[in-house]
Amino acid sequence: MKTDTSNIFPVFEKIINRKNKETLLKQKSKTIWLTGLSGSGKSTIGIALEKALFAKGFLTQILDGDNIRSGINKNLKFSVEDRYENIRRISEVTKLFLDCGIITINCFITPTEDIRKIAKEIIGEENFIEIYISTPLHICEKRDTKGLYKKARNGEIKNFTGIDSPFQKPINPQVTIDTNEMSVEKAIDFIFEEIKEAITF
Ligand code: ADX
Repeated sequence: MKTDTSNIFPVFEKIINRKNKETLLKQKSKTIWLTGLSGSGKSTIGIALEKALFAKGFLTQILDGDNIRSGINKNLKFSVEDRYENIRRISEVTKLFLDCGIITINCFITPTEDIRKIAKEIIGEENFIEIYISTPLHICEKRDTKGLYKKARNGEIKNFTGIDSPFQKPINPQVTIDTNEMSVEKAIDFIFEEIKEAITF
């Protein structure tokens, strides 16, 4: 006989589950995780991807440094420990979106295999699509959109990724995009082709 757990977990018994929500939204929730150096084009690609998915009827949520490090993670800096904690919290938040049937687009440097592993463990490998924005350091540094590379070279910023803090290339990303070699439009088409099966019924 099935045990009645409604008294023990009354809230969870009443929760509409992820499958119900995915069905409502007519999509499968996944995390599209963009990793790469600062200035590599993660946010640009993420924003364009969200627009393209929205136009096709997919509900998404972008999570990136701007909305996370200025809010929920504003007490964190860039030591190894803080980067772990940054990604751990982001991954837990991501899980809530996945449970809501929403596709997340995560734009974070996520500099090492160990840190990416934490994200995959929390989110679940089966939910995780890894996209490496591979734009090389010298291009990111030349762009220097936020002026941070210059400050890092001058020693005004410590532990800057690619300068005095490591970035390890992902071992087996599902997609690799070098924004110096490919237009944003092409990159989005390419990514969509790679992810469409995973996000549709
Ligand atoms: S992560 O390493 O923890 O994944 P995250 O993606 O959240 O980093 O934040 C990176 C952004 O913070 C960069 O794009 C840059 O604008 C800013 N930043 C400020 N200081 C640093 C630093 N020391 N290293 C890297 N990025 C920094």
